[in-house]
Amino acid sequence: MFKNQSIAVTGANGGIGRAVAEMFISNGAKVAISDLEVPSKTAKQIGAAGFACDVSDEDAVKTFITEAEAMNGPIDIFVSNAGVGFGDPKNAAGASNKNWELSWKVNVMSSVYAARAVLPGMQARGSGRFVITASAAGLLQQIGSASYSVTKHAAVGFAEAIAIRHWDEGIRAHCICPQYVRTNMTKGFEFAEKNQDGLLEPPDVAEALRIAIEKDEFLVLSHPVVGEYFKHKAMDYQSYITGMNKLKQKIGNDQLPK
Ligand SMILES: NC(=O)c1ccc[n+]([C@@H]2O[C@H](COP(=O)([O-])OP(=O)(O)OC[C@H]3O[C@@H](n4cnc5c(N)ncnc54)[C@H](O)[C@@H]3O)[C@@H](O)[C@H]2O)c1
Repeated sequence: MFKNQSIAVTGANGGIGRAVAEMFISNGAKVAISDLEVPSKTAKQIGAAGFACDVSDEDAVKTFITEAEAMNGPIDIFVSNAGVGFGDPKNAAGASNKNWELSWKVNVMSSVYAARAVLPGMQARGSGRFVITASAAGLLQQIGSASYSVTKHAAVGFAEAIAIRHWDEGIRAHCICPQYVRTNMTKGFEFAEKNQDGLLEPPDVAEALRIAIEKDEFLVLSHPVVGEYFKHKAMDYQSYITGMNKLKQKIGNDQLPK
């Protein structure tokens, strides 16, 4: 279904972004990947074109899109995947302003910048998909990382805004909300490695995205249990809050994200 489609993926030097790019390539797409540094080795290994793009900089995002379109044609699917996460020393407001601002730029504004650049073309063509790698933390919480949870909630909100505003124009938005996946982001985070709901591999997330696109589904739940937790939160917010606090106590302060 992706044969000859032009696809661009940010933050794709490894982890989920690389696996998503590989999934599209194995289905016949032409893929441009980017990361903070040119991901030359990854691009060569998977058969993509590689570019440098700091997604916190709107001009850099625009340039990446121009380069990807010059090489592969108008973008059919844009995957806004780059992300950052920081722990909260001491309390929920403990992360520095620098880390909050970087989280806002990378986890939220990068998608706004990319959507601003690709949506007009998608509207003119009456087709296109915009994928945001948010997180289960965007529906629930990453305990011990308020800056991550809050900005991932905003990422989910922006994906919803695209879907609701443009679905009738032939444009689809997909929002990927995984729990823990084995990537650089979870390396050494013991709670993630031993989590009761399991630690997925990046290709599992890519496959969940492929299926969601095939079914035209907005929410991509590589861990289906996240959908159950989300329903529980909506049905009984108070028990969600007290239950999550119990989970925090079980994890212990010294096991929270650093
Ligand atoms: N690993 C998990 O458990 C998990 C769970 C839910 C959501 N996610 C999300 O998945 C996405 C991919 O993360 P991952 O787990 O594959 O980890 P990862 O560290 O392998 O990938 C993140 C990539 O983003 C890049 N990046 C960071 N800041 C950037 C910037 N300013 N400009 C461009 N690139 C930048 C990094 O260089 C890195 O290659 C992120 O948005 C993350 O929040 C991860």
